[in-house]
Amino acid sequence: MWRPGRWPRWSSRAACHWASTASGSRTATAIPDPRATWCGSREYPNVRSVKVVRDGREELVNVDSAPDVVVVIGGGRMGAGIAQVFAGLGSEVSIVESSDEAASAARRRVADGLAKAAERGALPQDPETVLGRLTVLTDFAALPPQADLVIEAVPERADLKIDVLTRAEARVGPESVLATNTSSLSVAELGAALREPGRFVGTHLFNPVPASKLVEVVVAPQTGDEVVRRVRGWVRALGKTDIVVRDSPGFATSRLGVLLGLEAIRMLEEGVADAESIDKAMELGYRHPMGPLRSTDLVGLDVRLAIAEYLHATLGERFVPPQLLRDKVAAGELGRKTGRGFHDW
Ligand SMILES: NC(=O)c1ccc[n+]([C@@H]2O[C@H](COP(=O)([O-])OP(=O)(O)OC[C@H]3O[C@@H](n4cnc5c(N)ncnc54)[C@H](O)[C@@H]3O)[C@@H](O)[C@H]2O)c1
Repeated sequence: MWRPGRWPRWSSRAACHWASTASGSRTATAIPDPRATWCGSREYPNVRSVKVVRDGREELVNVDSAPDVVVVIGGGRMGAGIAQVFAGLGSEVSIVESSDEAASAARRRVADGLAKAAERGALPQDPETVLGRLTVLTDFAALPPQADLVIEAVPERADLKIDVLTRAEARVGPESVLATNTSSLSVAELGAALREPGRFVGTHLFNPVPASKLVEVVVAPQTGDEVVRRVRGWVRALGKTDIVVRDSPGFATSRLGVLLGLEAIRMLEEGVADAESIDKAMELGYRHPMGPLRSTDLVGLDVRLAIAEYLHATLGERFVPPQLLRDKVAAGELGRKTGRGFHDW
């Protein structure tokens, strides 16, 4: 019989009473360990979610298993967010950073993110408990070899990404999945540098990670099917939606989103309208939740420029970066992270 307290890291989950299947609802027995996949994939093949009673209220939760141990390389804007959501799910998370200073900043970013989530009521656990599952390292030799998932979120440069991925691969065991959070680079080319490219996949998360609902799972020709299956399960365990996209420059999201952003910058350059108006055109006219210039500010102008340069080289002239974008990056106006981009923050 299941009793409260048997799942220490999942204590907020109460008894599992119902399981929803493709053919409707049925009674499910208690799940001995909700982190195991049997509820989802063996005992009840069609079960993807179960109704649980939490604090007296019924709710639907995902039963895909979470990775036990996650390594995030680079604890910047994206890496800190990725570390935060996996630690919130119950995974033991290590961030690898490039220096002591960057390591302290990464820890602070995760702590701030957790505090904000708690303020919004979006964190069912105490932020300190979640932070207790986070380790920040500066030495790849200290990386946990039993990692289920290693995901890199270092700046958008192929040489840098290959360097950190090969160093991580040398450290982890054969079962570990290696992933990149690249917004645009070729997953096949990054993976080709690895000893085992079959375990490498793109996991393109979005900014801000805790609030965004989508993960693009980018599949290179050499990516193994089992790796894709495991990663999609982890995405669902995070409560996010995955789309599977063939490895191609910019995937689905960056290719469309960057094109719109670059055209908006060109319109600003040509004096078609001011930044506020261009954003309003898309927000109110086309019901986009955020205009293309504000979205560029949020991503970071430097990050956008790097992606545009790559897409220009691979897909052609329609992605040529506008001079205004280059000028702003050179002036250090990188968007929200520096207080000024196309808008003041
Ligand atoms: N910013 C976004 O909106 C966004 C969205 C989706 C994907 N991405 C992608 O995510 C990746 C990271 O972007 P970001 O915005 O978080 O960048 P960022 O500059 O905020 O963070 C990069 C982090 O990597 C660390 N780093 C650099 N070299 C390292 C090394 N050798 N070892 C360990 N850590 C190292 C830096 O110290 C920094 O903390 C990029 O590939 C980017 O294209 C970004």
